[in-house]
Amino acid sequence: MSTPHIYQLEEVFNEARYPDITFVPPKEYPQIKSAFRAKGKHITLSGPSGSGKTTLIQRLVKEEGVSHYDLVELSGREYSHIESGLVVLAEKLRVQPTLEDVTSLLQMVKFVVIDDFHHLSKGARLEIGQHLKLWHERNVRFIIVGIASSAAELFGADPELGIRNDPFELKTQDEQFVRSLIERGEGALNIEFSGPLENEIVAACNGVPSIVHVICRLLCVQDGVHETVGKKRIVDFQLRDQADAVLRIFKAKYFDKVVGLAKGKQQSRSVHNTYFDIIATIAADRRSEIPVEYLYQKIVGPIADPKQRNRKSTSFYNCLNNLDEVITTKGMNDVLFYRAGAKYISIEDPSFRFYLNLFDIEEVKKKVHIRRSDYSYDVAVSFAGEVRDKVLQVVRAAEDRGLQVFYDFDQQSLLWGKDLRKMLADIYTDEALFMLIFLSKDYPEKDWPAFELEIGKRASHKRTQEYLLPVIVDDVAVVGLKDTIGHLNLTTMTPHQIADMLAEKVEAMQKRMADDKPRLA
Ligand SMILES: Nc1ncnc2c1ncn2[C@@H]1O[C@H](COP(=O)(O)OP(=O)(O)O)[C@@H](O)[C@H]1O
Ligand SMILES: [Mg+2]
Repeated sequence: MSTPHIYQLEEVFNEARYPDITFVPPKEYPQIKSAFRAKGKHITLSGPSGSGKTTLIQRLVKEEGVSHYDLVELSGREYSHIESGLVVLAEKLRVQPTLEDVTSLLQMVKFVVIDDFHHLSKGARLEIGQHLKLWHERNVRFIIVGIASSAAELFGADPELGIRNDPFELKTQDEQFVRSLIERGEGALNIEFSGPLENEIVAACNGVPSIVHVICRLLCVQDGVHETVGKKRIVDFQLRDQADAVLRIFKAKYFDKVVGLAKGKQQSRSVHNTYFDIIATIAADRRSEIPVEYLYQKIVGPIADPKQRNRKSTSFYNCLNNLDEVITTKGMNDVLFYRAGAKYISIEDPSFRFYLNLFDIEEVKKKVHIRRSDYSYDVAVSFAGEVRDKVLQVVRAAEDRGLQVFYDFDQQSLLWGKDLRKMLADIYTDEALFMLIFLSKDYPEKDWPAFELEIGKRASHKRTQEYLLPVIVDDVAVVGLKDTIGHLNLTTMTPHQIADMLAEKVEAMQKRMADDKPRLA
């Protein structure tokens, strides 16, 4: 009897390399293979990350014996910074970026494979889309691989391409596929996952091949299987019991990034926690491609109050507009993908998807100091009209730091037609975390400020925490306020310094309130 080949675990279960040993043809394989063999059309292959697109194309190329000389292969990831599709191809082929030069070189090969097409810039994608017709006429076949929205966008560009292209979509695979994959791995390592454990793997992977690899590899590591074992070994765990171990393994890699993302852009972090909502919704889902529309329904949809709903909606789209930048600044380009205007947010790293399936969003919540107060505003300001300009500087500086400020000029539509007294009384009593009082010479004499101050003082008595924050605007004695209340001074401090202190106060207060009632969401 010959000694069995010893495989390293990473050769067998590995979500980041071609599965030599475990390859199972996905159900779409025969159709795609047939299209590949038929002469003529381009092929587009779309599907979520980790669904096996790259693997499938590599398999086809191998099986069909396509020689390296007949193939140009490139990845959108490496050319994402280039705005023109011709320039992308020209750089790859090392020719001048003219249609003639690029085309004549392309005509020397049979296939041009562009993988991770969605990583190309929009300009590059559209330009390639425009020339596909010509290249088809010149017998150059493109195989374009990417997430679903990039393919859909491409065909938006040129409807005529329809007859020159065979589109395919890789979906999740069935149970049979998953079991075959596991079986091949078991055979190579000389192990066997117990029946119940195998069932758990099947259930947990959701038909995503890369996640099968992630889970199986982790289980092997847990059981000390690092290569083919001499004597057949039964691996028997409960996957649920392994969750903690798995989380520990991934924590170092992902946790801080998730927290960073949940905090979002520094400027807007206290605005409605929308980045947190986005990541929490993605985590609660199982898909690798999450439709933006779905996120909107989950996050904005349930809000009944039209005013709040509007605000949340604005905040949602603001977050999306900045998401690409936030992903980049938090170092998450290899795990998450989103381009402003796209229909999906895509999780590019299968382990990250699996990690999100398991981890506890509450841990992130603790880190980001989610707003748990019911206050609509962080600060409401009260001042005499004479110092409006100065007040406005502070207000804008505070808003730049992500604070929600009630400032009457910004709220005219809100105040319009309402009983002003009652409306303002409500706001200064119940709707702000702090009340900022700008004390100037005119302040004590004015009707409105006097009214607002009265309400503020009354509200202050009802609160358990400090509420009134006086700011001295000019040389004035602090009338009507206890001297013991600390105050800031706008004659010696800049509006930015005041806004900084305000932001600190708001954050500290939110944290305190969060700690006070840790069980409340
Ligand atoms: N048909 C398959 N059979 C076995 N494993 C697969 C198959 N397709 C994908 N995998 C596993 O999933 C991982 C990710 O697949 P990949 O083709 O890179 O996905 P995509 O290109 O769609 O993001 C591969 O490294 C491999 O481990
Ligand atoms: Mg791929």
